[in-house]
Amino acid sequence: MAVDIEDLLSRMSWEQKLGQLQIVWRKDPAEQRALVKGGLGAVFWPPSAAATNELQRIAVEETELGIPLLIALDVVHGQFTIFPTPLAQAASFDPEVARSDARASAEEARAAGVNWTFSPMVDVTRDPRWGRVVEGFGEDVFLASGLAAAKVAGYQGSGLAEETTVASCLKHFVAYGAAEAGRDYNTTDISERRLRETYLETFRVGVEQGAASVMAAFNSLNGRPMHANRRLLTGVLKEEWGFDGLVVGDADGVAQLVDHGVAADEREAIRLAIEAGVDVVMGGTLLVDAEGTPLLSPGELSQERVDDAVRRVLRLKERLGLFDRPFVDESREATAATAERRATARGAAERCIVLLKNDPGRGRERLPLPPRGRILLAGPYARSLDHLGAWVQRFATPVAAGLADALAAELPGVDWDVAEGADFFDPSEEAVAEAVERAREADLVVLAVGEPSRISGEASSRSDIALPGAQSRLIQAVAATGVPVVVVLVTGRPLVVEDWIDRVDSVLCTWHLGLEAPAAIAAALSGRVNPGGRVPMTFPRAVGQIPIYHDHERTGRPPQLDGMVLPDEQAEFAGPNNTFDYYTSKFIDLPLGPRFDFGHGLSYTTFELSDLTVSPDRLREQDDGAGTAEVSVTVRNTGTVDGDDVVLLFVTDAVASVAQPVRRLRGYRRVALPAGGSARLSFTLAVDDLCFWADGTHRITEPGEFSITVSDGASTVSHPLFLA
Ligand code: NOJ
Repeated sequence: MAVDIEDLLSRMSWEQKLGQLQIVWRKDPAEQRALVKGGLGAVFWPPSAAATNELQRIAVEETELGIPLLIALDVVHGQFTIFPTPLAQAASFDPEVARSDARASAEEARAAGVNWTFSPMVDVTRDPRWGRVVEGFGEDVFLASGLAAAKVAGYQGSGLAEETTVASCLKHFVAYGAAEAGRDYNTTDISERRLRETYLETFRVGVEQGAASVMAAFNSLNGRPMHANRRLLTGVLKEEWGFDGLVVGDADGVAQLVDHGVAADEREAIRLAIEAGVDVVMGGTLLVDAEGTPLLSPGELSQERVDDAVRRVLRLKERLGLFDRPFVDESREATAATAERRATARGAAERCIVLLKNDPGRGRERLPLPPRGRILLAGPYARSLDHLGAWVQRFATPVAAGLADALAAELPGVDWDVAEGADFFDPSEEAVAEAVERAREADLVVLAVGEPSRISGEASSRSDIALPGAQSRLIQAVAATGVPVVVVLVTGRPLVVEDWIDRVDSVLCTWHLGLEAPAAIAAALSGRVNPGGRVPMTFPRAVGQIPIYHDHERTGRPPQLDGMVLPDEQAEFAGPNNTFDYYTSKFIDLPLGPRFDFGHGLSYTTFELSDLTVSPDRLREQDDGAGTAEVSVTVRNTGTVDGDDVVLLFVTDAVASVAQPVRRLRGYRRVALPAGGSARLSFTLAVDDLCFWADGTHRITEPGEFSITVSDGASTVSHPLFLA
């Protein structure tokens, strides 16, 4: 039965309208019931299917208009079954990983009464100091957009009225990831061109995919806090892109317009936010208080804008089928991970692991681990169960056993010794000394180190992104014994690893992989799973290089290894012949480039790319969307074990009227190949893929030569493409 939204709207009082425009925090149950009875439009999950039904019952049976509730929760990478963090998912270079997480999340959430999730976070992130990089899909706009679309598709399934879907929310609109100095909630100042090219693009793609809502960001952008940014919230999002969903403010973000200093008081803050395009205010009872008294009178806000906001809320409730089915079947709620979802989460976790280093330089490759021998496992992650990641709630299914148990099960022929080695944070080195002693007895040492979940995520910016506590010292001291060292790096963000990386043999980056982390890591260490993930965010050599990202614009003085001879004290930073052009864009105290570039990742096998073809290799500008070129390449597994390769397609514009990035990702494919096997991969490049934003309003193509580069890190092949 379709609800007549216009009729409903015409029957609503001012207070009833404003009530629909706010969502309050979880409160004590009595208070929450009273607010719902007073006509509140949305609540945070109560938390159980039964409590949800009770609130919906009050909303539909005990209020005059009987409007059901939006029930929201941040289900970011799982509600009960926890999947890898979004950044880890990006490392899979496989949108199916993101989709499967969102699908499982939506099934669990909706069965429990949640109908709205505040996810995915689609902020492009180029600064690993910012703790929230863990919630997003990394630095590359093309990769992040694809994963964002996959997440939205997973959450929203084939329609929001289904019993297994939830409304998604693209956040944080916009440029929140560009916070100055990586300090959370900080100011951003970005050119119109870059805003379009990079920061708006993931949202545009998410909106195109049908995301039901968008969340305003905490930051100010070019002087205008996003909760009051009419030009972007209304001008771009709603008018230019035709977004007819809901814009929700972030937690207390509307009231914080006062702290930003653009509103004198909360009345003005509300006015600015609603008129700018915020539809729902998150946090307290700012619009109408608990007694039902509105802070603003009808004359203080435009009626048209308020009606538009209420329509958006009612429309979403209708899309969710809530007017027909406000209640959930309590018997379907599963508050713990099921075996089936665990299996999906395990598969996802295995695909996100990145082999950063496996250096034959110190003898031979130390991974996979041998099936026999004496191995010491040490470091805080030897036994820690903290693998779930930053965005989980207290009702997440906990990890039952740590890496020590998983490895004992995975490699029962090994004589395992387990030592503490170091605490996450404690700088004292007592445990280090003991680990060193025990390392001397071992054939090999696995050091499981990293960042516990709580130091990445919201409000967790770090000025120093090295391993905390005595963990670097642990690695250095154990490596100094000469025993081969394998590092398992469990982290929410790219870290600076310079003080130990050259001293160890192998490094496996596992991120926070979720509920099935220990088993997945053990499988990758044993070689039962061949790691195939890639770095979705550059690992800098030093904090001073940040922001650092692969698709940076060209400069007038790119660093070169030809030219000037470096003074002796800097010779170590020079190229092979100690030649170096001094007056170029570089740091004089660092080698060129990052430690691990975007897309870096090794395998237990080797691959080779060949036979790149671009057909046709000439496109016509007038063809616009219609003209396409087929880019094909052969990838061969040249090693002796099965494995996955990740093939990236980059476009470089030779000459343009606006400085272009050194390369732009325009395609990627993860392909599984048996040992000795090969595949022919094809990508379709459209004229649109050669476009760029000339300024904030014009997206253009310019005729000329482009270079098409296909690379998997180990091998790179290029071919020209002409646009006439
Ligand atoms: C603040 C965060 O910025 C946002 O991402 C989240 O959805 C809300 N809190 C609600 O938990």
